[in-house]
Amino acid sequence: MENASYQRIVLAARPQGKVQLTNFRLETLAQPTFAALKDNEVLVKNHFLSLDPYMRGRMSTAKSYAAPQALDETMIGATVGKVVASKHADFRTGNDVIGMLGWAEMGIAHGNTLRLVTSTVPLSANLGVVGMPGVTAWYGINQILQAKAGNTLVVSAASGAVGSVVGQLAKLKGCRVVGIAGGERKCRYVIDQLGFDACIDYQLAKTEKELFTNLSVAAKDGIDLLFENVGSTIFDASLACLKPYAKIALCGMIAGYNGEAPVLKNCNKLLTMRAMLQGFIVTEHMEIWPEALQELAELVVKGKIKYHETVAQGLSSAPEAFIGLLNGQNLGKQLVKLS
Ligand SMILES: NC(=O)c1ccc[n+]([C@@H]2O[C@H](COP(=O)([O-])OP(=O)(O)OC[C@H]3O[C@@H](n4cnc5c(N)ncnc54)[C@H](OP(=O)(O)O)[C@@H]3O)[C@@H](O)[C@H]2O)c1
Repeated sequence: MENASYQRIVLAARPQGKVQLTNFRLETLAQPTFAALKDNEVLVKNHFLSLDPYMRGRMSTAKSYAAPQALDETMIGATVGKVVASKHADFRTGNDVIGMLGWAEMGIAHGNTLRLVTSTVPLSANLGVVGMPGVTAWYGINQILQAKAGNTLVVSAASGAVGSVVGQLAKLKGCRVVGIAGGERKCRYVIDQLGFDACIDYQLAKTEKELFTNLSVAAKDGIDLLFENVGSTIFDASLACLKPYAKIALCGMIAGYNGEAPVLKNCNKLLTMRAMLQGFIVTEHMEIWPEALQELAELVVKGKIKYHETVAQGLSSAPEAFIGLLNGQNLGKQLVKLS
């Protein structure tokens, strides 16, 4: 009888500039069995894989806050799935778990790296709005920006997994929220569906000056709080609109993840506006995750936070979906449905 198999995707080659399909390789392996598990290990069949911008950083060897992804190994990634077999006391067959099983249909994880799904939201939402991206938004809004009623907050990549939650949390606190996003569909979505006050379509601006002008009209009294996800000319336009004593949560600079040098001409505003800027990595603040996850789940269940998922079908679609994410093709959280 033929052994059952599963598929995984490994990093085949490091990208030079933009990520290409040839950077990945799909492999077929024999399914692990219960007998293959060591003490405290768990065998998980993955249902959803999360695709996230940080993966682009891991594909390169540039010095960063985390070690690079190894060549010929399963691509790193957060997953939700079901326990198939367990040699860990805390996990039983049939449990839904969140882990870092990577770009693979199944895998073995040490129980210490898994978390039982406890929230009442749909399984996939544990990778987005009630998962790492949601907690990132929560951390920036509550711990760094300390958003208050009456503040004007600007968030870039506004319709994405993090940005969409940032804007909604800020609205719940009584802020005026201005998004920046690419294209009319994304801008309409954050205004009409998520309740942002305004959204700048940066693709419409032909020059940096036009982008600045559009933003300064939407944030007419200036920016109190900036949640930065993109970098480049988008960040620069926001810097030019800062109010005195503005606060900036520097969450991501995706426009430079292929190695482009940051374009920042308005750094002087950090000084002249006496601004506070804090970069952060959400996984360094695990102490706030339980509170953040609980609050986010409650807000989603009550309908106070909405979310959208872009779901690619099947593991083999992951490379194309990831390239799409880096090119702005996703609306909301980018996922891959594995089974
Ligand atoms: N610090 C942390 O702990 C942490 C945790 C999670 C995420 N992040 C960062 O947060 C940011 C958003 O992550 P996410 O998961 O929510 O992704 P996302 O917003 O769902 O997807 C990425 C979005 O970035 C925008 N984008 C891509 N390239 C761009 C470019 N060259 N110029 C302008 N916009 C570009 C696109 O939106 P548009 O079409 O609107 O441009 C794209 O849809 C990323 O920078 C990520 O690295 C940081």
